[in-house]
Amino acid sequence: MPEQLTSDLLNSIPLPGFERTLGELRLVKSVSLNDRGVCEVSLELPVPGYPHQEKLEQSIREKIASVDGAPDEIAITCSLNVKGPESGASVGLRVKNVVAVGSGKGGVGKSTVAASLAYGLSSMGAKVGLLDADVYGPSIPHMLGATGKPEVREHLNTDGSVIQRIHPVQHDGLAVMSIGFLVAEENAVIWRGPMLHKLLTQFISETEWGELDYLIVDMPPGTGDVALTLSQMMSLAGAIVVCTPQKVALLDAVKAIAMYQQVKIPILGMVENMTGDLFGKGGARATAAEKGIPFLGEISSDPAIRIQGDESRLGELFKQESAARTNLLELCSNVAMEIARQYLAKPQAPTLEILQ
Ligand SMILES: Nc1ncnc2c1ncn2[C@@H]1O[C@H](COP(=O)(O)OP(=O)(O)OP(=O)(O)O)[C@@H](O)[C@H]1O
Ligand SMILES: [Mg+2]
Repeated sequence: MPEQLTSDLLNSIPLPGFERTLGELRLVKSVSLNDRGVCEVSLELPVPGYPHQEKLEQSIREKIASVDGAPDEIAITCSLNVKGPESGASVGLRVKNVVAVGSGKGGVGKSTVAASLAYGLSSMGAKVGLLDADVYGPSIPHMLGATGKPEVREHLNTDGSVIQRIHPVQHDGLAVMSIGFLVAEENAVIWRGPMLHKLLTQFISETEWGELDYLIVDMPPGTGDVALTLSQMMSLAGAIVVCTPQKVALLDAVKAIAMYQQVKIPILGMVENMTGDLFGKGGARATAAEKGIPFLGEISSDPAIRIQGDESRLGELFKQESAARTNLLELCSNVAMEIARQYLAKPQAPTLEILQ
């Protein structure tokens, strides 16, 4: 094997979509020659559904081909290693990115977007949890068709003491937690502020979420209480603000953005939902541009989305090809890219410079 064929050769290649090189992000795991003379490259990608994979692989092939005596055949394998601020570290969670999905107005599709992000990111290979923080109107169990009860199990602490941990419901490969699993749907629950705070705290720090790349939080409409509790507990990867294209929804979305900014949760961007004939199109993109925040995509108004959600089988949207699936997966990929972009732009994000 030519001497230059090592990870170092590839470390200077820029990662498309980010202002970082493969070396800075330690994405090249190995470069070797197998016994059939094939150059094998093992790579880690920092986001699921990475949209520039082909372009990156092309740059790698060109770089290897530029080496004298390089083999003709190159095999690249990619695995996923999601990057993130380890949002839950301060409360003992092993979750890389906690992402809030909120809006100013009710009924614009927060729960649909939150659940779709969970399914979509999971179908792209990420480990995902879904927390229904809408304790007044929990809709996640119904939308997913998830049943069962979170179990309380005893765990042994490192110091030998026994603690009780709540285990989320596992559904379609997602870890799911909702007050809807504990209280019958038709029973309205009146939660006072401190109880709400305590319940959310339990759902986060006393729950055994396991190792997750993303914990998606379906936020209740309006109020800033839940956002405040979350922001006090951990450093979120950010919040996504969902709105529909009408003027009133956009005005409320602007208020929601201000609310997140006030509690110091970074804004990942805006999503326009139910784009189409009925409500119009493009309002959220324009508002995002005005506010100087990213626009993450639009979801068409699509009866398939409503029907699958209403009939407790939202996950089926991700099982076969459809316009809705393509639409939602593109949104997931945009969201994953934006999360990684914002994280990697922060000064504390890891680089290899110290080692080079
Ligand atoms: N893109 C879409 N196309 C068609 N129907 C949709 C779309 N997005 C959401 N819906 C439907 O709109 C209704 C409201 O959606 P959803 O429950 O997700 O909103 P929400 O913002 O979470 O509401 P709430 O404020 O009550 O929590 C549901 O019936 C859902 O199926
Ligand atoms: Mg909802």
